[in-house]
Amino acid sequence: MIKITNLCHLFKGAQDPTLKDINLQVREREHLALIGPNGSGKTTLVRHLNALITPQSGEVEIDGLSCRKASHHAQIRRMVGMVFQNPDNQIVGMTVEEDIAFGPGNLNMKADEIRQRVTDSLQMVGLAGFEKRSPFELSGGEKQLLALAGLLALNPRYIVLDETTSSLDPGAKGRVYDMVKTLQAQGIGIIQVTHNMEEAARADRVVLMKGGLIIADGSPAEVLTDVDRLKKLGLAPPPIVELISRLNVMGKHGIPAVLSVDQAADWLNRKLAGSGPDFNNGMNGRI
Ligand SMILES: Nc1ncnc2c1ncn2[C@@H]1O[C@H](COP(=O)(O)OP(=O)(O)OP(=O)(O)O)[C@@H](O)[C@H]1O
Ligand SMILES: [Mg+2]
Repeated sequence: MIKITNLCHLFKGAQDPTLKDINLQVREREHLALIGPNGSGKTTLVRHLNALITPQSGEVEIDGLSCRKASHHAQIRRMVGMVFQNPDNQIVGMTVEEDIAFGPGNLNMKADEIRQRVTDSLQMVGLAGFEKRSPFELSGGEKQLLALAGLLALNPRYIVLDETTSSLDPGAKGRVYDMVKTLQAQGIGIIQVTHNMEEAARADRVVLMKGGLIIADGSPAEVLTDVDRLKKLGLAPPPIVELISRLNVMGKHGIPAVLSVDQAADWLNRKLAGSGPDFNNGMNGRI
């Protein structure tokens, strides 16, 4: 479990703290989306998770290991893999395969095992066949997928994706979504920082930050259907969520909150067919 307790952070020379008393726990196998406007502190928070920033006040523990102790940092960085907003800084090899082999090589793994991990992780992110390419000649999205493959080769316990999918095409995005589900099934926790509310809707839990504080923490249905709050923060709710919200305001239709086009289509189809939807279908008030 990742356990963050009373975490505060003040950058040198800054007037206001960037993180103000953050309390958050992330379980194994959990897919958590971290959302919030620009400058709300998301990147600063997740940089604490693999000890790139050590806590000034408060505590961050990864499976019981305190990030305050420098002697834990190497292990913590293996346990929590992170893909940064700018993947250029993460390239270490002259070829794609060298780049991925770098981490396992540092752990003194055998050559056969390293080769297997390189092949498997490239396959997982959809970059099979790129082995001999120069990482520097890859597109921005491909570089992010490469950084992700490099993490997977290290068998992390948690993966932090800081706006990793923002420059990916829908196909690559889809592969990352599928991969998140596969990794979860293997017991890996995913912390996904995103501005894309449709992406956040796929998570198990959504945490909303504003001004260095967590202002909401709940299921996607709880956090993402508060259309007014999201819009006030400059975040775009999923269009389907906004459509249903507006229909309810305009016509008091009492349509339950939906998060996806599939859910909305299902409800409307049943409504139009005159059968009437079953509101007690075990989906916690959602369709
Ligand atoms: N190294 C630094 N020194 C001083 N201030 C910083 C530093 N890094 C971040 N900040 C400030 O901390 C605040 C939070 O930044 P952070 O990058 O964590 O936000 P964010 O929520 O990730 O934003 P975005 O959505 O734009 O990526 C911003 O006001 C930023 O200017
Ligand atoms: Mg950021």
